Amino acid sequence: MEGYKPNIKRYGTIAYKRCGRSGLKLPLISLGLWHNFGGVDILENGREIIRYAFDNGITHFDLANNYGPPPGSAEENFGKILNLDLKPYRDELIISTKAGYWMWDGPYGEWGSRKYLISSLDQSLKRMGLDYVDIFYHHRPDPDTPLEETMMALDHVVRQGKALYVGVSNYSADETAEAVKILNQLGTPCLINQVKYSMFERWVEEQLLDTDEDNGIGLIAFSPLAQGLLTDKYLNGIPETSRAAKSWGFLNVSEVDAAIEKVKLLNQIAEVRGQSLAQMALAWILKDHRITSVLVGASSVKQLSENIDALDYLLFSSEELEEIGMILRGS
Ligand SMILES: NC(=O)c1ccc[n+]([C@@H]2O[C@H](COP(=O)([O-])OP(=O)(O)OC[C@H]3O[C@@H](n4cnc5c(N)ncnc54)[C@H](OP(=O)(O)O)[C@@H]3O)[C@@H](O)[C@H]2O)c1
Repeated sequence: MEGYKPNIKRYGTIAYKRCGRSGLKLPLISLGLWHNFGGVDILENGREIIRYAFDNGITHFDLANNYGPPPGSAEENFGKILNLDLKPYRDELIISTKAGYWMWDGPYGEWGSRKYLISSLDQSLKRMGLDYVDIFYHHRPDPDTPLEETMMALDHVVRQGKALYVGVSNYSADETAEAVKILNQLGTPCLINQVKYSMFERWVEEQLLDTDEDNGIGLIAFSPLAQGLLTDKYLNGIPETSRAAKSWGFLNVSEVDAAIEKVKLLNQIAEVRGQSLAQMALAWILKDHRITSVLVGASSVKQLSENIDALDYLLFSSEELEEIGMILRGS
């Protein structure tokens, strides 16, 4: 690929939304590097997707220490792509990483101790070739480490200048409220909550959406397409190159089989709306004013382009919402 010159009209496509009550705005669509950017993937494909994202106004790229496979390789590859293409635009990028899941052997390689979090962020910065990340997350709650210790580690990395903001991921509403309280006391407000939210995974609606809003923190929804289930990809079987067909990852053929009847019905509604199912699934999340951004994955530029076009039509009639609700409830 030749030298990269970003699209000069890159800020004309996507809207940006304030993250909670912070000063930071995020694009309505952000790109995650959990899959498709690891050592097992083709670097040039990932590079093309990232260039396309930036060219179309996606400023936010989400990583974690363990993304790959192998763990760490997505950060390494992202570092290479940054170096090749995006280094001059660092001030236009919001790069996040996380620590919480297993990353190295021994007692300090996972969960929520100060020892693990600070070492892990140092490793992530090295892999990506960065001086700082924009957002550092605690990736999952740790039942054994005092929350104060974990939050003090987040506060510490901000004071060190290694992260500009901090967030939590996979925390329940009560855990989030407690984390926010501690961080406020420390003087480093919590920016954002990263949680799984899609038509097929709606637990956040019970309490968390309100908790985040009440506390002035943003919510970024991960796996909004249920890892590809909420697209037209599996309508006629399991494509060979799909996530469900791969030997790594967390989407099983049995999950596809269990959901496919609902997917077919949802696809019919999307067709009537003049959208693809992927676009409708993203619009369905973004209709809620409490959502800051949807965090999509993509294995091709074509998928990402289709997903960005979801922003062309975000409205739902009450009849459509009712019909979708009935399908999801299986009634
Ligand atoms: N905090 C956490 O614990 C956590 C956990 C999981 C994810 N995340 C974050 O959320 C990001 C997104 O997660 P995700 O990858 O599961 O999101 P997703 O958007 O639900 O699924 C992405 C997958 O769906 C398929 N896809 C996407 N657009 C498509 C389209 N238009 N048509 C057909 N298929 C399409 C692709 O699958 P194929 O590869 O099969 O083509 C793609 O890899 C991750 O990268 C990560 O940053 C965070």
